Amino acid sequence: MSYHPGSYGAGGASSPNLVAAVANEGVLGFLAAGYLSTEILEKQIIETKSKTNKIFGVNLFIIDPLIQNNFIKPENICAIEKELGIFKTKKIKIHIDEEIENKIDIIIKHNVKIVSFTFGLPNKKIIEKLKKHNIYTIGSSTNIIEAKIIEELGLDAVVAQGIEAGGHRASFLNHNLRDEIGLISLLQEFQGLIQIPVIASGGIITGKSLLAVETLGATSSQIGTGFLLTEESGIPKSYKESLLNCHSHETILTEYVSGKKARGKFNLLIENLQSKKTKKAEFPIQNSMTKDIRAFASKNENPDFMSLWCGQSVWKIKKIISAKQFIFNIMAEYQEEINKIKKL
Ligand SMILES: Cc1cc2nc3c(=O)[nH]c(=O)nc-3n(C[C@H](O)[C@H](O)[C@H](O)COP(=O)(O)O)c2cc1C
Repeated sequence: MSYHPGSYGAGGASSPNLVAAVANEGVLGFLAAGYLSTEILEKQIIETKSKTNKIFGVNLFIIDPLIQNNFIKPENICAIEKELGIFKTKKIKIHIDEEIENKIDIIIKHNVKIVSFTFGLPNKKIIEKLKKHNIYTIGSSTNIIEAKIIEELGLDAVVAQGIEAGGHRASFLNHNLRDEIGLISLLQEFQGLIQIPVIASGGIITGKSLLAVETLGATSSQIGTGFLLTEESGIPKSYKESLLNCHSHETILTEYVSGKKARGKFNLLIENLQSKKTKKAEFPIQNSMTKDIRAFASKNENPDFMSLWCGQSVWKIKKIISAKQFIFNIMAEYQEEINKIKKL
């Protein structure tokens, strides 16, 4: 089982606290480095290392850099800002640079042994550099074509992200329906066609689901939503509380918050952004356009206007518990299921 991300703006679900807590229980935790500066990532790696001597990974976004000064926010975004009293100007400056090369150097410098990628893949030079330093590499896929590309590029393992998953689709080939496959179908399709280890992702939140994906050929599992709702995760209190009473059918896939499909709880932010007159920019421009609203909502514990990313299995979590307790519960149920099978 691996704990995987939860990048949630500043503060972040995937805090050094959470990554260290899961690592100390023998689970692989990932620091979500997407949208972070190299400097902050380095601080987080150092902090995580001060809390655990166990292995952990870093997750990187592969997004082309983009710097443009004069984007005009669409009317509906300005209207929400006005309603919240934070409207300043229609113009926004967009500065997106994931500083991949610098982050890779920091990862090597601090002897991090596992790196995963989402939204795309690094170039061959980076992959060779990581391999030279014996760093295990993981790519994220949402269909067999993406998984094949990851395998052929020489990465060590591939995430199979089913449509149940919380947060953004990991897809990197296109943004249409071809990335909306359920985890059961995806895993069965990968069996036999993909030779590298497959990490199942999406909707896994119980010991039974952990066992189910193993039966379908997964080597390990990746859990996001389950860890998002632990004491150690860094998301705002009101975000956690609003997910405690959320059923699967209340989650929705939307492109309107960031420009790329992501699953979260339907709220006023999504409703307003999806309203008829809405114009939507591409990812990550749309993400920058809605950033001030989401940051303000997070700061003020207003879940109506946050991006409440979570997966379809969110209904299962009824109480905020420690990461240690969550891992204990899921592993106890997993063992119980195995014992039942042995008795048959
Ligand atoms: C709040 C949140 C943030 C996420 N951030 C990232 C991220 O930064 N990088 C990444 O590769 N996946 C990210 N994911 C997706 C997870 O890696 C994983 O695919 C997903 O959570 C699995 O489905 P589940 O939420 O049903 O457990 C995020 C998921 C959530 C819920």
